[in-house]
Amino acid sequence: MLVTGATGFVGSRLVPALLERGWNVRAMTRHPETYDGEGEPVAGDVSDPGSLAAPLDGIDVAVYLVHSLDDDAFAEKDAEAARAFGLAAAACGVRQIVYLGGLGPDDATLSAHLRSRREVERLLGEAGVPVTVLRAAIVVGAGGISWEMTRQLVKNLPAMVVPKWASTLTQPIAVDDVVRYLAGVVGLEEALGRTFEIGGADRLTYVEMLQQASEVIRGRSVPVITVPVLTPRLSSYWIAFVTNVDPTTGRNLIDSMGTEVVVTEDAIRDLLPGEPLSYAEAVRRAVAARGA
Ligand SMILES: NC(=O)c1ccc[n+]([C@@H]2O[C@H](COP(=O)([O-])OP(=O)(O)OC[C@H]3O[C@@H](n4cnc5c(N)ncnc54)[C@H](OP(=O)(O)O)[C@@H]3O)[C@@H](O)[C@H]2O)c1
Repeated sequence: MLVTGATGFVGSRLVPALLERGWNVRAMTRHPETYDGEGEPVAGDVSDPGSLAAPLDGIDVAVYLVHSLDDDAFAEKDAEAARAFGLAAAACGVRQIVYLGGLGPDDATLSAHLRSRREVERLLGEAGVPVTVLRAAIVVGAGGISWEMTRQLVKNLPAMVVPKWASTLTQPIAVDDVVRYLAGVVGLEEALGRTFEIGGADRLTYVEMLQQASEVIRGRSVPVITVPVLTPRLSSYWIAFVTNVDPTTGRNLIDSMGTEVVVTEDAIRDLLPGEPLSYAEAVRRAVAARGA
């Protein structure tokens, strides 16, 4: 099987989990020469369709974990890449594509970022390969970009001035649970062509999320002042100032924070039983893994 985005936050944890389950894993990256993870490194660039036949040759299942959120033209780039990958996968006889997308309602309230994630779901399957989609909100774990934003805000600020989006509900999930669900649907007949929502044990507002993270990281909560006028653009400058998250990525993530992202159906739990971790436990594990 093939894992794209194998060097990324989710992919680098998924590869060992799949190897442990007995899969032969090809790890796709644009830089196989410097790959130091597990599995067999293979070169592939989703923006170069000609480079995809070799990594997909002889592959049954391909996991798609690529995005270009740090690029202003991410929607076009991610759409072209998904279409090219779906086509190459169909040509190679791939039986299943597994994709980790974004949670949120199927309506006009979706941000450009979440709309793009939704479009990728559709384009991956356009050439006929059954796609299994897992939709998640913030994935909590050391090195996850949304989690890094939370962690650094909590760590660096004596008090928080938060905009209106801070009262939006979200359902973050531990990266361990994401990996368990991804590894669980790989090669699973009942999961072919289906979309599942995945989430952690807790539904929280962004403010509650920051507070709980602060309690775990600093041993106390931080004073929060809500202001209605902090626009997404201003918020992203502010995030760039307080954290080392790239400003384009920060802006794209903040744009999504006005949308409620909670699980509305839990079919995945029939297919792959087991209680997901609480937010506090996910934070504890993320902090422990980072060693700080
Ligand atoms: N992190 C979250 O909180 C979260 C939440 C919900 C959904 N998701 C979804 O989960 C997926 C994985 O996210 P992540 O956080 O693990 O991402 P990440 O850490 O930013 O990793 C992105 C990966 O994409 C690869 N990549 C980028 N451009 C590429 C290209 N042109 N060709 C081939 N590979 C390319 C990179 O590999 P190389 O640089 O080695 O080529 C890297 O391994 C994404 O679809 C994301 O939308 C993430």
